[in-house]
Amino acid sequence: MLTIALSKGRIFKDTVPLLAAAGIVPAEDPERSRKLILETTDPGVRLLIIRATDVPTYVQHGAADLGVAGKDVLVEHGGEGIYEPLDLRIARCKLMVAGPIGGRVESQRRLRVATKFVDSARAHFANQGRQVEIIKLYGSMELAPLVGLADCIVDLVDTGNTLRANGLEPWEPIADVSSRLIVNKASMKMKHQRVQALIGQLREAVCAQT
Ligand code: ADP
Ligand code: PRP
Ligand code: MG
Repeated sequence: MLTIALSKGRIFKDTVPLLAAAGIVPAEDPERSRKLILETTDPGVRLLIIRATDVPTYVQHGAADLGVAGKDVLVEHGGEGIYEPLDLRIARCKLMVAGPIGGRVESQRRLRVATKFVDSARAHFANQGRQVEIIKLYGSMELAPLVGLADCIVDLVDTGNTLRANGLEPWEPIADVSSRLIVNKASMKMKHQRVQALIGQLREAVCAQT
């Protein structure tokens, strides 16, 4: 049996066509069902539906053999116990520093940065030799500069609509983000043939799609 961990929303939606190319179709839609374990048309494959940030944890500990996770989430997790054999080129966006329009001024004051990407943000500013105060949030980062909680944010940006809607603008890019197939290190050994076959099928599906 192969267990694949996925988050619902954009990762599930974008992964379904790739899995379909490998003959794996979920028996249910996680947006409708309350089930957290979904059977598929392949009796040897089941899906776990979990929070995006929990996917690397399930794969690291072998609760799932494989998973799909954003590079942003993988960097924060650290990658222990996990291989990352394939860029699925889905859920693409950029990790950026953003702040109020016209508010990007050089100052000696310690910048207050609101983010859920604490390690990525710290590393980015450390590379520039800048002292910052990181304020950990779990979502809606765009709100923080509007109410004086922070000077700027580190968050994901795709169309820029969320920034614009809140009077913010991109200040600096940090990294390009896409979702990756991840594999538990022990599963890669113990289920080698099955896992390699699936990686091969998904690689072909990714190439065909992009
Ligand atoms: P969460 O509930 O953790 O925000 P999402 O489904 O929104 O879960 O995000 C899952 C992954 O999709 C993120 O880790 C990131 O890699 C990517 N992502 C997030 N927001 C966007 C976006 N606006 N456009 C494209 N990809 C995104
Ligand atoms: C993500 C991200 C940004 C927004 C960027 O939020 O956290 O807020 O998308 O996309 P845009 O540049 O196209 O506006 P998401 O839609 O995932 O909402 P949530 O994570 O707060 O539920
Ligand atoms: Mg989100």
